Amino acid sequence: MDMKIYKPQSFSLSGLNGISDKTLEMHFKLYEGYVTNTNTLTERIAAILSDGKVDQEEMPAYSELTRRLGFEYNGMVLHEYYFENMKRQGGGDAARDSKFREAVERSYPSYAIWKTDFVGIGKMRGVGWAICYRDPKTGHISNHWITLHETGNISGFVPLLVMDVWEHAYLLDYMPADRPKYIEAFLSNIDWNAVDARMKVEAMAAAGR
Ligand SMILES: [Fe+2]
Repeated sequence: MDMKIYKPQSFSLSGLNGISDKTLEMHFKLYEGYVTNTNTLTERIAAILSDGKVDQEEMPAYSELTRRLGFEYNGMVLHEYYFENMKRQGGGDAARDSKFREAVERSYPSYAIWKTDFVGIGKMRGVGWAICYRDPKTGHISNHWITLHETGNISGFVPLLVMDVWEHAYLLDYMPADRPKYIEAFLSNIDWNAVDARMKVEAMAAAGR
């Protein structure tokens, strides 16, 4: 049996607008923790399963490890999407002729209304993420709130734009009550090419069915 081991990705992100290098370095370390924990949990679950059954005395630990894997795994993956959809001198609005913008304009009354909705979800109270997804069945775009890392993700939906709104994403740069300022900074660093590339990945996956 091959054990899948995840390796932390490195991101050449620095010099962002309104998100300090200090924040990014701390955030990369946190992300690496999710990768480590995902690997550790995967190994421990495999060890319990190695004799082909989950004994009754193993069941409480097995259940807890399995639930925690959902948290750690999503924490790992969402941070990868997040770091990948930012770049130095990014920001502005999605290009008018981009696949993403066209899909947004088919799904919302206007691009401006989509953007206001995304920002509004990012300001919702709680610990989690604002994510803009595409439904691969309909091509419809929708914004969602994710609690922690795992509650609210919709199976099969493709993340296009991912914004971390846990306080650790901005506490070194802003006061806790200033999340709106961090969101403004995030928007000014978006790598729209990375977002549009996710539309293509989704289209290829759909074509392969
Ligand atoms: Fe984070």
